[in-house]
Amino acid sequence: VKIKLDQSVARVQPNMWGVFFEDINFGADGGIYAELIKNRSFEFTKPLMGWSIQRKKANEGEILVVNRKEVNTANPRYLQVNNENGPFGITNEGFKGIGVKKGLRYDFSVMYRQKSPGVTLHLQLLSANNKVIGEGNLVPEQSGGSWKKQSASFTATETDPKAKFAIIFEGKGQIDLDMISLFPGDTWKGRKQGLRADMVQLLADMKPGFIRFPGGCIVEGTDLANRYQWKKTIGPIENRQLIINRWNTEFAYRSAPDYYQSFGLGFFEYFQLAEDIGSDALPILNCGMACQFNTGEVAALDELDPYVQDALDLIEFANGDVNTKWGKMRADLGHPKPFNLKMMGIGNENWGPQYLERLAIFTKAIKAKYPDFKLINSSGTDPEGDRFNLLNTSLRENKADFIDEHYYRPADWFLKNAGRYDNYPRNESKVFVGEYAVHADKNFVGSNRNNWQSALASAALMTGLERNADVVQMASYAPLFAHIDAWQWAPDMIWVDNLNIYGTPDYYVQKLFATNKGTDVVSITLDDKNIIGQDGLYASSVLDKNKKELIIKIANNTDKSQSIDFELDGKTKLKSSGTVEELADSNLNQVNSFDNPQALSPKVSAINVKGKKLNTSLKPYSFSVIKIPFN
Ligand code: AHR
Repeated sequence: VKIKLDQSVARVQPNMWGVFFEDINFGADGGIYAELIKNRSFEFTKPLMGWSIQRKKANEGEILVVNRKEVNTANPRYLQVNNENGPFGITNEGFKGIGVKKGLRYDFSVMYRQKSPGVTLHLQLLSANNKVIGEGNLVPEQSGGSWKKQSASFTATETDPKAKFAIIFEGKGQIDLDMISLFPGDTWKGRKQGLRADMVQLLADMKPGFIRFPGGCIVEGTDLANRYQWKKTIGPIENRQLIINRWNTEFAYRSAPDYYQSFGLGFFEYFQLAEDIGSDALPILNCGMACQFNTGEVAALDELDPYVQDALDLIEFANGDVNTKWGKMRADLGHPKPFNLKMMGIGNENWGPQYLERLAIFTKAIKAKYPDFKLINSSGTDPEGDRFNLLNTSLRENKADFIDEHYYRPADWFLKNAGRYDNYPRNESKVFVGEYAVHADKNFVGSNRNNWQSALASAALMTGLERNADVVQMASYAPLFAHIDAWQWAPDMIWVDNLNIYGTPDYYVQKLFATNKGTDVVSITLDDKNIIGQDGLYASSVLDKNKKELIIKIANNTDKSQSIDFELDGKTKLKSSGTVEELADSNLNQVNSFDNPQALSPKVSAINVKGKKLNTSLKPYSFSVIKIPFN
């Protein structure tokens, strides 16, 4: 295998390897958004879903769900408690239970008003078998007709992954309640009502170049009324209008009836998350079309203005100075400094002439105001189909900045496509591989939950993306997160339950690429040809001119170990020793799990260079990242 050290054949974008975030599989609500109360504002279709009432005596009118939709369209419902007959309570089941940790503080908050004061709230964390494992009290401080938010904290005395939360109403009187909320005290960066720290940490460890959000199909919605509208996701959480999640419909492969989007994780929080973990923000906006796999509803062309305006306003929200309307909004939310947004996607998996027509209107308006702002165009999810190719051709003719390609395909397809971009046009539109994953079957309910076969085939394809970094400038595996008791789609990169988390073999492959991205592609060949499957090998190599390292990535997709001699051509002076990070397992069905989260994870060893020669033995079914420093 020959590597030409001195000749950079392409620059690697600093944001090349990113992540795709969607609220699918309880990724946001019930996942990274650390709220523990399901249906906190009674806006689910069934207003008491997630809640049960503990009645000592059945009295009519003790609990009423009141709707004030004429005066509050975003958050119309609240709960009215009339207590005349002694204590009774309500219990929330959480999102598939509540994960409680012994010794951790829990922060309760509620909005209330009380015209007839006297009721106090006794708060209890209950274990799965109804033992009290944490309790506190909230004595309302304000009476009268206006709403007030009040908080109380208490500490859990035991760990339970499937706890519940109860409020016991004590004392006589009437109280109205809304936004009943409970958060763990260990959120990411300690932010109030923030994100689940272990989930953010795994992302931060990957050092992703960008974070694509908020999806995925939820951008489009099953219909336009249920599309993602970023302006409804910022500001006070009680004003963020909840909608049904697209993955809670007949269109989901494994629908969840209790799946809604509270938007507690909204666009401001997405930008903040991207900033926290050092990633570029990459929002995808609705283009005036609902999901074509669902209703396919489109906005009339003469009614597209609000959609286009949302895109223009988002750029101002992210980048505008504090004297602009939306820049001021960002500052008011606590971030006067711009977020430095550089790109956005228009449409998710949209296609057809309807898409091209709408895209043209967005492009004209955005480029007129922000000529250097980059736009990502969608080309869909069928990389060999006529629709995909036709659309791709039109987008190239229109000089799209980036074309978003998606593929969920079997391992063989990934291996065969390691050379997919070797002959793509070099100087036109760039490619964003915005969603990909190896799928054993077409039903997206993954019998092969992220086994080593899928991760190794991804690694093989990714060497082809990296080799073509002049064309393929960004890529993100999808989906990112899944809750073990609440998923709709698999495989997924990271799995969680209410208390634990693990990265799949795919996570480690993604992390190895993202943390070893380098700055310049250098040629690596076998018999003067790109290494795209000869002897079951797949390889790419880069220099990191900042860290001064040669980085070789090589996958051995055979059941035999292979001894490889690398010939290191050029004047670059390599040091005599380096390291290998290796993922290997002779069992292609190997998976990680909550019990064995690192069954398949990189092992590090040393490697020596002899002059211009480097030899290594690749284990059967392995992926290795070899790093040699240079002067
Ligand atoms: O990643 C899951 C789904 O796959 C996304 O929502 C959609 O864009 C694609 O079809």
